[in-house]
Amino acid sequence: MLSLKNLSVDHGPLRALWDVSLEVGRGEKVGLLGANGAGKSTTLGAIAGLYPKAGGTITYDGQVLERASTAQTVAGGIALVPEGRRLFPTMSVLENLKMGVYAAASRRNMAASLARVYALFPILREKAAQNAGELSGGQQQMVAISRALMSRPRLLLLDEPFIGVAPKLIDEIMTVLHQIAAEGVTMLLVEQNTHRALDFVERAYVIENGRTVLEGGREQLLGDPAFAGKFLGLE
Ligand SMILES: Nc1ncnc2c1ncn2[C@@H]1O[C@H](COP(=O)(O)OP(=O)(O)OP(=O)(O)O)[C@@H](O)[C@H]1O
Ligand SMILES: [Mg+2]
Repeated sequence: MLSLKNLSVDHGPLRALWDVSLEVGRGEKVGLLGANGAGKSTTLGAIAGLYPKAGGTITYDGQVLERASTAQTVAGGIALVPEGRRLFPTMSVLENLKMGVYAAASRRNMAASLARVYALFPILREKAAQNAGELSGGQQQMVAISRALMSRPRLLLLDEPFIGVAPKLIDEIMTVLHQIAAEGVTMLLVEQNTHRALDFVERAYVIENGRTVLEGGREQLLGDPAFAGKFLGLE
Protein backbone atom coordinates (compact mmCIF):
# COMPACT_ATOMS: atom_id res chain seq x y z
CA MET A 1 0.00 0.00 0.00
CA LEU A 2 2.85 2.36 0.89
CA SER A 3 6.42 2.14 -0.27
CA LEU A 4 9.28 4.56 0.39
CA LYS A 5 12.41 4.05 -1.67
CA ASN A 6 15.63 5.88 -0.81
CA LEU A 7 13.67 8.86 0.42
CA SER A 8 15.62 11.98 1.31
CA VAL A 9 14.13 15.17 2.77
CA ASP A 10 15.70 18.52 3.64
CA HIS A 11 14.61 20.98 6.29
CA GLY A 12 15.87 24.20 4.73
CA PRO A 13 19.60 23.82 4.24
CA LEU A 14 19.81 20.76 6.50
CA ARG A 15 19.30 17.22 5.31
CA ALA A 16 17.03 15.38 7.78
CA LEU A 17 16.48 12.15 5.83
CA TRP A 18 19.27 10.59 3.77
CA ASP A 19 17.99 7.19 2.77
CA VAL A 20 14.71 5.91 4.12
CA SER A 21 13.15 2.82 2.54
CA LEU A 22 10.18 0.98 3.94
CA GLU A 23 7.09 -0.96 2.89
CA VAL A 24 3.69 -1.09 4.54
CA GLY A 25 1.19 -3.62 3.25
CA ARG A 26 -2.55 -3.07 3.25
CA GLY A 27 -3.99 -3.73 6.69
CA GLU A 28 -0.58 -4.01 8.30
CA LYS A 29 0.55 -2.35 11.54
CA VAL A 30 4.14 -1.21 11.20
CA GLY A 31 6.35 0.62 13.66
CA LEU A 32 9.00 3.26 13.13
CA LEU A 33 11.58 3.39 15.92
CA GLY A 34 14.61 5.54 16.48
CA ALA A 35 16.37 7.94 18.81
CA ASN A 36 15.47 11.61 19.18
CA GLY A 37 16.19 13.48 15.98
CA ALA A 38 16.58 10.31 13.91
CA GLY A 39 13.97 11.45 11.39
CA LYS A 40 10.79 9.64 12.40
CA SER A 41 8.52 12.69 12.34
CA THR A 42 10.08 13.93 9.12
CA THR A 43 9.32 10.55 7.52
CA LEU A 44 5.65 10.68 8.56
CA GLY A 45 5.45 14.33 7.52
CA ALA A 46 6.85 13.54 4.07
CA ILE A 47 4.26 10.78 3.59
CA ALA A 48 1.52 13.19 4.70
CA GLY A 49 2.67 15.78 2.17
CA LEU A 50 3.97 18.32 4.69
CA TYR A 51 7.53 18.34 3.31
CA PRO A 52 8.83 18.10 -0.24
CA LYS A 53 11.14 15.25 -1.14
CA ALA A 54 14.76 15.96 -1.97
CA GLY A 55 15.12 12.53 -3.57
CA GLY A 56 13.73 9.02 -3.76
CA THR A 57 10.12 7.98 -4.20
CA ILE A 58 6.96 7.59 -2.17
CA THR A 59 4.46 5.22 -3.74
CA TYR A 60 0.98 4.98 -2.28
CA ASP A 61 -1.77 2.80 -3.70
CA GLY A 62 0.31 2.19 -6.80
CA GLN A 63 0.81 5.89 -7.51
CA VAL A 64 4.00 7.87 -7.06
CA LEU A 65 3.27 10.78 -4.73
CA GLU A 66 4.85 14.01 -5.75
CA ARG A 67 4.55 16.56 -3.04
CA ALA A 68 0.82 16.47 -2.41
CA SER A 69 -1.01 19.15 -0.48
CA THR A 70 -2.38 18.02 2.85
CA ALA A 71 -5.89 18.23 1.43
CA GLN A 72 -4.94 15.91 -1.46
CA THR A 73 -3.26 13.51 0.91
CA VAL A 74 -6.35 13.40 3.08
CA ALA A 75 -8.53 12.88 0.03
CA GLY A 76 -6.25 9.95 -0.87
CA GLY A 77 -6.98 8.36 2.48
CA ILE A 78 -3.86 9.28 4.46
CA ALA A 79 -4.24 10.96 7.85
CA LEU A 80 -1.53 12.09 10.27
CA VAL A 81 -1.89 12.27 14.04
CA PRO A 82 0.96 14.73 14.55
CA GLU A 83 3.57 14.72 17.27
CA GLY A 84 2.39 16.89 20.14
CA ARG A 85 -1.24 16.57 19.02
CA ARG A 86 -1.47 20.09 17.54
CA LEU A 87 -5.01 20.79 18.71
CA PHE A 88 -6.57 24.23 18.82
CA PRO A 89 -6.75 24.57 22.61
CA THR A 90 -9.25 27.44 22.73
CA MET A 91 -11.61 25.78 20.29
CA SER A 92 -14.14 23.20 21.39
CA VAL A 93 -13.59 19.48 21.03
CA LEU A 94 -16.30 19.41 18.35
CA GLU A 95 -14.67 22.24 16.38
CA ASN A 96 -11.33 20.42 16.56
CA LEU A 97 -12.95 17.24 15.25
CA LYS A 98 -14.50 19.15 12.36
CA MET A 99 -11.02 20.38 11.37
CA GLY A 100 -10.26 16.81 10.30
CA VAL A 101 -12.85 16.96 7.56
CA TYR A 102 -11.46 18.38 4.32
CA ALA A 103 -12.95 16.51 1.42
CA ALA A 104 -16.49 17.19 0.30
CA ALA A 105 -17.31 13.50 0.54
CA SER A 106 -16.31 13.30 4.19
CA ARG A 107 -18.11 16.58 4.85
CA ARG A 108 -21.30 14.96 3.65
CA ASN A 109 -20.58 12.08 6.04
CA MET A 110 -19.85 14.39 8.96
CA ALA A 111 -22.67 13.12 11.16
CA ALA A 112 -21.74 9.48 10.58
CA SER A 113 -18.04 10.17 11.17
CA LEU A 114 -18.82 11.99 14.41
CA ALA A 115 -21.04 9.14 15.57
CA ARG A 116 -18.20 6.73 14.81
CA VAL A 117 -15.56 8.61 16.82
CA TYR A 118 -18.00 9.16 19.69
CA ALA A 119 -18.64 5.42 19.72
CA LEU A 120 -14.89 4.76 19.87
CA PHE A 121 -14.25 7.43 22.52
CA PRO A 122 -17.55 8.09 24.37
CA ILE A 123 -15.93 10.70 26.63
CA LEU A 124 -15.56 13.00 23.61
CA ARG A 125 -19.32 13.24 23.21
CA GLU A 126 -19.57 14.42 26.81
CA LYS A 127 -16.74 16.91 26.30
CA ALA A 128 -17.83 18.05 22.82
CA ALA A 129 -18.58 21.64 23.84
CA GLN A 130 -15.56 22.04 26.12
CA ASN A 131 -12.35 23.71 24.97
CA ALA A 132 -9.83 21.08 23.88
CA GLY A 133 -7.13 22.70 26.01
CA GLU A 134 -9.10 21.92 29.17
CA LEU A 135 -8.97 18.15 28.60
CA SER A 136 -6.40 15.78 30.11
CA GLY A 137 -3.41 14.73 27.99
CA GLY A 138 -5.02 11.40 27.19
CA GLN A 139 -8.34 12.93 26.26
CA GLN A 140 -6.55 15.44 24.03
CA GLN A 141 -4.83 12.54 22.29
CA MET A 142 -8.24 10.95 21.76
CA VAL A 143 -9.32 14.20 20.08
CA ALA A 144 -6.20 14.19 17.89
CA ILE A 145 -6.77 10.58 16.81
CA SER A 146 -10.46 11.20 16.27
CA ARG A 147 -9.76 14.32 14.21
CA ALA A 148 -7.62 12.14 11.93
CA LEU A 149 -10.38 9.50 11.77
CA MET A 150 -12.95 12.11 10.68
CA SER A 151 -11.47 11.98 7.17
CA ARG A 152 -12.07 8.19 7.04
CA PRO A 153 -8.40 7.36 6.39
CA ARG A 154 -7.18 4.06 5.01
CA LEU A 155 -3.65 4.80 6.22
CA LEU A 156 -3.22 6.29 9.68
CA LEU A 157 0.17 7.78 10.61
CA LEU A 158 0.60 8.05 14.38
CA ASP A 159 3.47 10.13 15.76
CA GLU A 160 4.17 9.29 19.44
CA PRO A 161 0.52 9.16 20.46
CA PHE A 162 1.19 8.14 24.06
CA ILE A 163 3.37 11.01 25.23
CA GLY A 164 1.77 12.76 28.19
CA VAL A 165 -0.98 10.15 28.42
CA ALA A 166 -1.76 8.42 31.73
CA PRO A 167 -1.21 4.61 31.69
CA LYS A 168 -4.90 3.79 32.06
CA LEU A 169 -5.78 5.92 29.06
CA ILE A 170 -2.88 4.43 27.06
CA ASP A 171 -4.56 1.04 27.44
CA GLU A 172 -7.90 2.47 26.38
CA ILE A 173 -6.41 4.20 23.33
CA MET A 174 -4.45 1.04 22.42
CA THR A 175 -7.65 -1.00 22.48
CA VAL A 176 -9.35 1.48 20.17
CA LEU A 177 -6.37 1.49 17.78
CA HIS A 178 -6.53 -2.31 17.62
CA GLN A 179 -10.23 -2.04 16.83
CA ILE A 180 -9.62 0.51 14.06
CA ALA A 181 -6.85 -1.70 12.65
CA ALA A 182 -9.18 -4.70 12.74
CA GLU A 183 -11.61 -2.68 10.62
CA GLY A 184 -8.90 -2.57 7.94
CA VAL A 185 -7.11 0.70 8.58
CA THR A 186 -3.37 0.40 7.88
CA MET A 187 -1.11 1.98 10.51
CA LEU A 188 2.39 3.35 10.72
CA LEU A 189 3.26 4.08 14.35
CA VAL A 190 6.14 6.12 15.74
CA GLU A 191 6.61 5.25 19.38
CA GLN A 192 9.43 5.92 21.81
CA ASN A 193 8.63 2.99 24.08
CA THR A 194 10.14 0.07 22.19
CA HIS A 195 8.27 -2.69 24.03
CA ARG A 196 4.95 -0.93 23.73
CA ALA A 197 5.55 -0.39 20.02
CA LEU A 198 6.59 -3.99 19.39
CA ASP A 199 3.57 -5.28 21.32
CA PHE A 200 1.31 -3.34 18.99
CA VAL A 201 2.87 -3.68 15.55
CA GLU A 202 3.63 -6.70 13.40
CA ARG A 203 6.97 -5.37 12.13
CA ALA A 204 9.10 -2.34 12.71
CA TYR A 205 11.83 -0.31 11.04
CA VAL A 206 14.62 1.45 12.86
CA ILE A 207 15.77 4.87 11.67
CA GLU A 208 19.18 6.21 12.58
CA ASN A 209 20.52 9.56 11.42
CA GLY A 210 17.96 9.76 8.62
CA ARG A 211 18.52 6.21 7.35
CA THR A 212 16.57 3.00 7.81
CA VAL A 213 19.09 0.60 9.32
CA LEU A 214 17.11 -2.38 10.66
CA GLU A 215 13.80 -4.05 9.96
CA GLY A 216 12.07 -7.01 11.47
CA GLY A 217 9.34 -8.55 13.56
CA ARG A 218 9.21 -8.36 17.33
CA GLU A 219 11.26 -11.47 18.11
CA GLN A 220 13.75 -10.78 15.36
CA LEU A 221 14.45 -7.23 16.58
CA LEU A 222 14.50 -8.11 20.26
CA GLY A 223 16.96 -10.90 19.49
CA ASP A 224 19.23 -8.67 17.41
CA PRO A 225 22.20 -7.48 19.48
CA ALA A 226 22.51 -4.29 17.43
CA PHE A 227 18.89 -3.48 18.21
CA ALA A 228 19.05 -4.47 21.85
CA GLY A 229 22.19 -2.42 22.37
CA LYS A 230 20.58 0.68 20.95
CA PHE A 231 17.14 0.56 22.42
CA LEU A 232 16.55 -1.76 25.26
CA GLY A 233 19.03 -0.06 27.56
CA LEU A 234 17.28 3.26 27.04
CA GLU A 235 14.01 2.40 28.75
N1 LIG B 1 11.07 22.09 10.86
C1 LIG B 1 12.35 21.79 10.97
N2 LIG B 1 13.31 22.66 10.59
C2 LIG B 1 14.62 22.34 10.67
N3 LIG B 1 15.09 21.17 11.11
C3 LIG B 1 14.19 20.27 11.52
C4 LIG B 1 12.78 20.51 11.48
N4 LIG B 1 12.13 19.44 11.93
C5 LIG B 1 13.09 18.54 12.26
N5 LIG B 1 14.32 19.03 12.00
C6 LIG B 1 15.60 18.32 12.18
O1 LIG B 1 15.54 17.14 11.36
C7 LIG B 1 16.07 16.02 12.04
C8 LIG B 1 15.02 14.93 12.17
O2 LIG B 1 13.98 15.41 13.02
P1 LIG B 1 12.65 14.62 13.31
O3 LIG B 1 11.75 15.55 14.03
O4 LIG B 1 12.15 14.01 12.06
O5 LIG B 1 13.18 13.48 14.28
P2 LIG B 1 12.36 12.46 15.21
O6 LIG B 1 12.97 11.13 14.97
O7 LIG B 1 10.92 12.63 15.01
O8 LIG B 1 12.80 12.96 16.66
P3 LIG B 1 11.98 12.99 18.06
O9 LIG B 1 12.12 11.61 18.64
O10 LIG B 1 12.71 14.01 18.86
O11 LIG B 1 10.57 13.37 17.76
C9 LIG B 1 16.58 16.54 13.38
O12 LIG B 1 17.95 16.83 13.24
C10 LIG B 1 15.80 17.81 13.58
O13 LIG B 1 16.53 18.74 14.36
MG1 LIG C 1 9.45 13.19 16.21
